[in-house]
Amino acid sequence: MSMYGVIHAARRIANGPLVRPARLKWERQQFLAPQNHAALFGVYASFAQARHDLPQENPGFHLETLSGQYVNIRIKRVFEYDYPVMRWLEKAFQHGATRVLDIGGSVGVHYFAYGRYLEMPAELSWEIVEVAEMVDIGRRIAQERDAASLKFTTDLNAAIDAGCHDVWISAGAIQYFEDAHPADLLRRTEKRPAHVLLNKLPLHDGEDYVTTQNLGQGAFSPFHIYNKARFIESIEALGYTLWDSWDVHELSLHIPGHPECSFGAFSGLYFVDTKQVQPDRKARPVAQAGLL
Ligand SMILES: C[S@@+](CC[C@H](N)C(=O)[O-])C[C@H]1O[C@@H](n2cnc3c(N)ncnc32)[C@H](O)[C@@H]1O
Repeated sequence: MSMYGVIHAARRIANGPLVRPARLKWERQQFLAPQNHAALFGVYASFAQARHDLPQENPGFHLETLSGQYVNIRIKRVFEYDYPVMRWLEKAFQHGATRVLDIGGSVGVHYFAYGRYLEMPAELSWEIVEVAEMVDIGRRIAQERDAASLKFTTDLNAAIDAGCHDVWISAGAIQYFEDAHPADLLRRTEKRPAHVLLNKLPLHDGEDYVTTQNLGQGAFSPFHIYNKARFIESIEALGYTLWDSWDVHELSLHIPGHPECSFGAFSGLYFVDTKQVQPDRKARPVAQAGLL
């Protein structure tokens, strides 16, 4: 038998009815181990179903010590996937945007890290929606650094209902909120933002589903994965144009035992309401340019 034949046979056995249950039981034990930070497990229809399979003593994101990598690293530096966001954010500022809503912006990581590269408007207001533990740390850092533009809230609904933001940003975050699909949030707000910047999103060609993620330190969270075409269409249906999109190659997704649910790169999307603003006269939206 060729090497390919051996691998194929081994895969068939591993996924066959005799071995698969034991393999998935082992994979689940691995997933639950505290050191397996960022590991994923399971395919569920809802957050409720996913929570049912997680340990009962689970703090989720409500753990101060989860702030470590944000306070020590992300607040200080940007990564490759941040550049498209910085490009469009800078353009938005040049077109007069001053009020930013940053959903899941941690302790102010984007505000501080992007601030080293971007000219921020003098009258900037940058509001972050976060869990109480990150809000406390973020407020303390903002005070220490004299960052008067930075505000924090735990109340996503109130921030959305205020409807006073020019730009919404969310990076690697909305997938952890049970009910924060951007199209639903946008539908609810009377004065919609001209710019919507979504980064590090788990989008794929298959169906929507929910998985669970090990956050480290004994904490876990359910996690949405969305069908890419439907996700984009739901925002376009509200009058937005998808102006740019990019792959986030640093983040991929593997669900043990579910190759059909796994994919190689996360996504970044920039939507603009062209009735409010034309972001760049030289460029055309990514879909019109046939680049999607
Ligand atoms: C993976 S981190 C991303 C942080 C940052 N945006 C970045 O790109 O580095 C996800 C963030 O979403 C926040 N988050 C998750 N669920 C939340 C919820 N229900 N309400 C408020 N914040 C939430 C977490 O506290 C965490 O800071």
